[in-house]
Amino acid sequence: MREFEIAVVGSGYVGLVTGACLAYIGHRVTCVDKDERRVAELREGRMPIYEPGLEEMVGRGVSAGQLRFTTDLPGCVREAEVVFVAVDTPPGEDGSADLSNVAAVARSIGRALSEAGGRKRPLIVVNKSTVPVGSGDYVSMLIREGAEEAGNGSVDFRVVSNPEFLREGSAVYDSLFPDRIVLGAESRDALDTMRELYEPIIEQSFPAEMDPRPKAAVPFVTTDLASAEMIKYAANAFLATKISFINEIANICELVGADVSSVAYGIGLDGRIGPRFLSAGIGWGGSCFPKDVAALRSIAREYDYEPALLDAAVCVNERQRKQVISKLQRDLHTLKGKRIALLGLTFKPNTDDLREAPSLEIAHTLSSLGARVVGYDPVAAKEAARRQPGLKAAFDPYEALRGAHAAVVVTEWEEIRSLDAARAASLMEEPRLLVDGRNALDPERCRKGGLLYRGFGRA
Ligand code: UGA
Repeated sequence: MREFEIAVVGSGYVGLVTGACLAYIGHRVTCVDKDERRVAELREGRMPIYEPGLEEMVGRGVSAGQLRFTTDLPGCVREAEVVFVAVDTPPGEDGSADLSNVAAVARSIGRALSEAGGRKRPLIVVNKSTVPVGSGDYVSMLIREGAEEAGNGSVDFRVVSNPEFLREGSAVYDSLFPDRIVLGAESRDALDTMRELYEPIIEQSFPAEMDPRPKAAVPFVTTDLASAEMIKYAANAFLATKISFINEIANICELVGADVSSVAYGIGLDGRIGPRFLSAGIGWGGSCFPKDVAALRSIAREYDYEPALLDAAVCVNERQRKQVISKLQRDLHTLKGKRIALLGLTFKPNTDDLREAPSLEIAHTLSSLGARVVGYDPVAAKEAARRQPGLKAAFDPYEALRGAHAAVVVTEWEEIRSLDAARAASLMEEPRLLVDGRNALDPERCRKGGLLYRGFGRA
């Protein structure tokens, strides 16, 4: 393989994982961030996020001399053959993606390219941030504008879209063993260079002591810029809709007395449907699905298209969170003065991310109804309590359950899946209600332990 000189702009979740993995497969990577403190901490080996395996991988890259951190963007652009842009695109008020960070980086790249003078090969600028369809052209325009500002507009570069499909909690694994790599560009040369850069992953030819599975080549999908940008939105929108679909079925299951877990298993065996992303419950949260579905709806509306299916997926998702409250009210009646324990607070297990976490909205509603809310999470209890007034942090699940009239499983951390039902019941007050928002516990075991079990879409 050829060793590339790579810069990754933005040391957030996507940038850091991408940078560390590209260094791991043998490239020389410089991660750039404008936040000096973050860069200083990374140099000391301290991670800004919790992601299994990341700290080790960064440590390994740094000691091998393949990975470094800096705030010097122009310096990196001068040296690099490929620059990845992995900065955040937060949702604006109308749901559309805010591109100001991407735009600022594009202009800086243009200025740096202009100041650096002639290059041996064109700089490849890879968009990894999730951006609205058409942004590739916008980024090209901004790079050129930045270059003109710096005095030389005739700079040589190619823009490529390379969406990421990393799941929080398994981001390192997903980077090294992806289902596919998607690349969009107008230039064949740029696509060929990117294929070469990704070769160790495509061929699965890097040493991987962490991987027990047999090696098979990873599909490398090349297309135009707009289609690559659309693949990212369509993938997330499809997965979010799949979850909303099974949640709708779960609600109907409850009405007719069916069990959604069996239904999901039964339909998932059909190869056309597939078994994954069919877990019913409180619904989707996090930094990706809500943001990307909102952005795609907003893109559609810009073209005067009403995205009816996406609207419905969001509507079902909002309803799922409200169902937690109605399930509590059904057995507790008034919630005023009742103590309610929320078990798991992050938007999903194995992350410290609280963005769009259902727990915060549920805690807010419960405390506005007069309930006393206490929450436990293996990593984020303190931070959740800081963000959500009315939510008290407990540092042990059983401490949260002591004196509680009801508990809600909001996030299915392993520790919560294996909750000791009898011990929980012995600490709780009547009616010892357990609302299992993730269908993660065994109803029989809970009932035997003395809990009043209520799942989603099952008795
Ligand atoms: C998601 C996608 O899965 C990644 O492929 C994508 O790269 C990423 O967004 C992104 O755009 O950056 P992530 O948000 O980390 O990844 O989390 P998921 O594991 O996909 O879960 C999303 C939400 O759906 C969670 O709240 C989870 O609890 C919920 N979910 C998931 C269900 O309610 N039911 C399911 O069956 C599966």
